[in-house]
Amino acid sequence: MQAVILVGGEGTRMRPLTDTRPKPMLALVDRPIVEHQLDHLRRHGVRDVILSCGYIPDAIEAHFGDGASLGMRIRYVVDPEPLGTAGAVKNAEALIDSDEIVVRNGDILTDLDLGALRDAHRASGAAGTLTLTPVDDPSAFGLVRLDPQRRVTEFLEKPCREDLLPGEPYLINAGTYLLSRSVLDAIPAGRAVSIERETFPLVAAGGGLFGFPSDAYWRDIGNPAAYLAATLDVLSGAIRTEIPHDGRWLGDGAQVGDGADVDALAVIGRGARVGPGASVRRSVVGEEARIGPGAHLVDAVVGARVHVGEGARLEDVVVGDGAVIDAGARLVGPLSVATGERVAAAQG
Ligand code: GTP
Repeated sequence: MQAVILVGGEGTRMRPLTDTRPKPMLALVDRPIVEHQLDHLRRHGVRDVILSCGYIPDAIEAHFGDGASLGMRIRYVVDPEPLGTAGAVKNAEALIDSDEIVVRNGDILTDLDLGALRDAHRASGAAGTLTLTPVDDPSAFGLVRLDPQRRVTEFLEKPCREDLLPGEPYLINAGTYLLSRSVLDAIPAGRAVSIERETFPLVAAGGGLFGFPSDAYWRDIGNPAAYLAATLDVLSGAIRTEIPHDGRWLGDGAQVGDGADVDALAVIGRGARVGPGASVRRSVVGEEARIGPGAHLVDAVVGARVHVGEGARLEDVVVGDGAVIDAGARLVGPLSVATGERVAAAQG
């Protein structure tokens, strides 16, 4: 089986962290989000992968190359202009030679059983099978309704309140699909097409779309809060990954000063330095960042090369790459600091 991973979106909800890299290339502890997906695919025997790129494609190809170092075959296609989630699959068509394709969004973390998905797909004779996950609030997702045979009867992208039936178990599109080639044929070429808004409603109307509900670990990493939550899940072992988890992760060359506290779920990126007496809790510190002596970070995501001055306090804050937070500043969020911005102590 082959897989197509969609990695070309601009990731606007993830700004400022996506000012400088595509969302699927954000490090989730020690490796990009999409590399966790590649690990997951390989565990399930899928080694032939096409990465469908758009926004900052070079960063992706520079990291993965031909995939040999991961024991996989990785190829790339690049949207000539943003093609949307179905257009980006269509754009990979020339490289697809299997009859069944795993298609997934490049910004989800899941431990889904792909073999069981394939079995369900074959048993139902579906054109497309969507993995579904239960949620309390489906308003930010694609709400899917099924008949008793698990055939999709309705696909409502970002439903509004009037669309929801009280007491209904909400199953949403979990962003991993098994598609037969006939679905590719249903996507028009050469223009932007949304798989959620156009392709799935069309295939569902023809009776060929089925759901595969799953309780496996699943998280959509769409915004900084979800990114931090996914990081903490990896550190605490809530999701199986290839990373040993002991509550914190120090990248190569990271340094932690005397008396600093980084034990409670923290990632200190490669070459970053945490000063003496500082504390970093439930937070991510990017590569080569500097956290000054006595600074205090809680629920913070700090980008690469950020400088946080002595005694500064950051709580529920996202800081773009290269920003400077002056000594003594107090930032209590939710708020975000732009890439390269300087925050003076008085502003905080
Ligand atoms: P937002 O701008 O915050 O909505 O993020 P996004 O651009 O990543 O969009 P969304 O989260 O809906 O995308 C789901 C997945 O599809 C992500 O992995 C995106 O990288 C990918 N994706 C979205 N749009 C495109 C596109 O036009 N082309 C390609 N190649 N991939 C896309």
